Amino acid sequence: RRPIGVAVLGMGNVGTEVVRILHENAEDLTARVGAAIELRGVAVRDITRWRGVDASLVTDDPASLVVRDDVDIVVELIGGIDLPRSLIRTALEHGKSVVTANKALLADYTGELASAAADAKVDLYFEAAVAGAIPVIRPLMQSLAGDTVTRVAGIVNGTTNFILSAMDADGDDYDTVLAEAGRLGYAEADPTADVEGYDAAAKAAILASIAFHSRVTAADVHRQGISSITVDDLESAKKLDCTVKLLSICERFVDPDGRERISARVYPALVPLSHPLAGVGGAFNAVVVEAENAGRLMFYGQGAGGAPTASAVLGDLVMAARNKVHGGRGPLESTYASLPVAPIDDA
Ligand code: NDP
Ligand code: HSE
Repeated sequence: RRPIGVAVLGMGNVGTEVVRILHENAEDLTARVGAAIELRGVAVRDITRWRGVDASLVTDDPASLVVRDDVDIVVELIGGIDLPRSLIRTALEHGKSVVTANKALLADYTGELASAAADAKVDLYFEAAVAGAIPVIRPLMQSLAGDTVTRVAGIVNGTTNFILSAMDADGDDYDTVLAEAGRLGYAEADPTADVEGYDAAAKAAILASIAFHSRVTAADVHRQGISSITVDDLESAKKLDCTVKLLSICERFVDPDGRERISARVYPALVPLSHPLAGVGGAFNAVVVEAENAGRLMFYGQGAGGAPTASAVLGDLVMAARNKVHGGRGPLESTYASLPVAPIDDA
């Protein structure tokens, strides 16, 4: 079998781990895919830094990688919006399947990118975009495709959960813990996205879109972050047998006029200590899905960090590579957007 060529755009917290696992698991991955997965290039900003791969593979020109004939799959791990949007569109238009962890981009452009993938008959996978290592996109998109999901709620930002957990357990200083979250590779390049709830809102938009077969964007999500939460607030919560968690809650509901609608919101909430979400500590995430027939399902695990996120990226990469080898296609996104999103005041 002809090897499957892969380009990795971005060698930061996640990209570095993706390349490491590709290298370390090469033999097993070949057996699982039915062909070798070969790294054709990596794109970074600073090409002078040693990246642990042959220097001939390193470029600061990602646009040149995504159109190369020997690249079958592009893995986008740069972050941001404009550049990755353009790179992913170009890659898809050139017949490359794409794997990305970029929730900020997907929150607003999943529709555009999924259409481009469908037109080009290639895959667009993004399991790592929500809740790090935890499989939640694929269960919603595939396993629950025949059920009616009514609610998706939980903790989907590792950085803020890490901060709140440390402030709660040890009274740690907010700024010190935030800096630690950055060092551990949990925080976004600009951690404002984490602490002000933008990252959780982007994930809520993605989850609500998939769970409710609709089109919800980040602007539709009511958002409040944790930057004003103090150790005193956490102490007060404790006196009520509660803790504080940044929750993302996406619901399908019937409004007073009998119309089905969606609400999506992110805010720091008091959670009773007896509730399973209260015990989710560190950079862990947990997502509770409620569906009419399945009932309540809970997904729990490492929600941020290089290796856990890379695990989800590799899972997608194996799927995309198998499809290249065996001629299959990944799950297609629903094409309809039937449920209106409630204005924030109504939700
Ligand atoms: P980093 O900031 O650690 O890495 C970004 C990488 O992109 C760096 O290697 C950087 O190069 C490279 N890069 C930036 N701009 C350019 C450019 N113009 N051309 C070429 N390369 C460029 O990010 P993360 O690895 O933490 O995150 C990557 C993506 O994964 C983001 O979308 C993030 O939201 C998402 N994600 C991250 C998770 C995490 O826990 N960290 C979890 C889930 C998703 P250089 O090294 O030279 O600076
Ligand atoms: N900054 C994100 C978080 C990374 O802390 O959850 C994982 O998406």
